[in-house]
Amino acid sequence: MDPDGPWSSFEPLGVPDGHDTRPPRAVIDPRADRSWLRRMWPLLAARRVRFGGALVAALVAMVAGVMIPRVTMSAIDDGLRARTRPLEDFVWILAGLALARAVLTYWYRTTLYTIAYDFESDLRTSMFGHLTRMDFAFYDRVQAGQLISRANSDIRSVQMFLTFTPLISLNLVSFAVAIALMLSIHVGLTLVAVATLPFTYVSGSKLRNISFPMSWIVQGRQAEITTIVDENIQGVRVVKGFAAEERELRKLAGAATRLRWANVKLNDARARWGPLTENLPRLGLAGVLLYGGVLAIDGVVSIGAIVAFNAYVVLLQMPFRFLSFILIMGQRASASASRIFEVLDERPTVTDRPGAIDLVSPRGAVEFDGVTFGYAGGEPVLRDLSLRIEPGETIAIVGRTGSGKSTVARLLTRFYDVQQGAVRLDGHDVRDLTLASVRHHVGVVLDDPFLFSASVHDNIAFARPDADRASVERAARAAQADGFVRELADGYDAVVGERGYDLSGGQRQRISIARTLLADPAVLVLDDATSAIDVQVEQQIHAALHGVLGTRTTVLIAHRLSTIALADRVVLLDDGRVVAQGTHAELLATDARYAAVLAQVTSDAAGDDARDAAAEAVAGE
Ligand SMILES: Nc1ncnc2c1ncn2[C@@H]1O[C@H](COP(=O)(O)OP(=O)(O)OP(=O)(O)O)[C@@H](O)[C@H]1O
Ligand SMILES: [Mg+2]
Repeated sequence: MDPDGPWSSFEPLGVPDGHDTRPPRAVIDPRADRSWLRRMWPLLAARRVRFGGALVAALVAMVAGVMIPRVTMSAIDDGLRARTRPLEDFVWILAGLALARAVLTYWYRTTLYTIAYDFESDLRTSMFGHLTRMDFAFYDRVQAGQLISRANSDIRSVQMFLTFTPLISLNLVSFAVAIALMLSIHVGLTLVAVATLPFTYVSGSKLRNISFPMSWIVQGRQAEITTIVDENIQGVRVVKGFAAEERELRKLAGAATRLRWANVKLNDARARWGPLTENLPRLGLAGVLLYGGVLAIDGVVSIGAIVAFNAYVVLLQMPFRFLSFILIMGQRASASASRIFEVLDERPTVTDRPGAIDLVSPRGAVEFDGVTFGYAGGEPVLRDLSLRIEPGETIAIVGRTGSGKSTVARLLTRFYDVQQGAVRLDGHDVRDLTLASVRHHVGVVLDDPFLFSASVHDNIAFARPDADRASVERAARAAQADGFVRELADGYDAVVGERGYDLSGGQRQRISIARTLLADPAVLVLDDATSAIDVQVEQQIHAALHGVLGTRTTVLIAHRLSTIALADRVVLLDDGRVVAQGTHAELLATDARYAAVLAQVTSDAAGDDARDAAAEAVAGE
């Protein structure tokens, strides 16, 4: 684990005591040029004593199992027929072997399963830890949902292979012991007994050659159905809004048919090859009985030997049936492992640099100094942008849609790193500060207020889970959310439905503003965060913001004149540059571009009042 993992990082946002962030016991080998087995090995090596112990127990249990037919043979020949030894001796030995086998099998199974799940848990923890450390550019690129669900099945297949293959391989040892015992009884009979094994292998691999890819396909098609169902539940408002239920049903029916086909194919293969694989040993039994019977009549082998061979023929099939299984599991696990490494080898570019310092009680001075930035190395969105915001100042950023306003907000919280120039907080380049402290002191409220399926209290207290009710209420009052929250059936304990759909857009925005206010950032960025809130309430929010926190630096990204009017200064952004700044009145009087942009942006916005005002503004110019 790298030292700046989430378990050792600066945690300014009140993580309650006893919060269990147990690090994984072991992580993969970071060297990407190694084979996947060696890279995964540290996870098993961390448990090698227990793992080795379990394998030894398994080996002993298997050998005990192989001994049982041999003892039965002696019991029949010496105890029953020749009576050279008392029968109860053999009874005791058999009972002892059975008991030892039971105890050892119990122990190695529980141990192996525990190790397997520990292994899985470690891998999942480091995977999730890694995902939480990835930067926004990564999430722009990948589909996180798919990533996580795929991670689950990939982790499982690697875990299965690594923990259970050694066990299956041990079967080969018991196989060798059995062959040795059989050869010591009669060579010819041994050859007859093993004659069906190649066929078992062939039919076993035929079965797996079909069933493995098919079960892969079945899994993929199940995921396809899950995605369709999931999207239709998440997007039920869109689907119903466009009366598209019928079409979505057809889509689901199509996916269901494809799943059915794969399932039928899979079971067809099982029905065809399964019984053959299972019954070949019985054919072997017939052979043993035929040849062994002749030998017994001639007095070459004993009756006990035939009984023992009966048992061995069945016992020997096991490793043969599993052999092809290991090969295919290995291929699958190696593919899975490479997908896991794809994620784990990805390095976030936005991280704390060595020696980064914490930003402590900032005054809230913000500076963009010649900033050039484009997403994923594409065309620059911001070009040589320079902008200073004094502590305590409220500015509004105005510009056409796509002009880069939200990008300014994202750079301020260092969601991305600039390509040229620098973003400074209190004179410090944000890249020299710890991410956690920057994000603690710069609060952004986005226009899409994401709420968790938790109580209103917990949603507001997200940044400070230990916050008491009084401070939650204070933040809610400042965000003008207190009134409507009290009217909910359970007040602050009311659980917000999935993504907050049982609240209105404006209510959700107010809760998300309260959430940011509770963190008490020195720099507050409201990115279109009041678009669904009516003008009077918005003014109350801003009045409350000013009243409670006169010294906070505030950046308003807005489309509405009413919001823009709240700012001390307006910055006009166009094509990634600051093209004009001043008070609203100054800009209106001196800059034709401002009036033009205002007319355009406000006509996009919903408020009629804003549109009228803009029309007036342009007409008055
Ligand atoms: N995550 C992203 N990856 C790639 N390009 C992006 C990303 N986010 C924004 N862009 C592009 O960057 C440009 C500026 O986007 P930005 O969101 O900053 O505009 P904006 O001024 O906030 O617009 P709006 O008023 O519509 O919110 C746009 O051309 C957009 O397509
Ligand atoms: Mg935007």
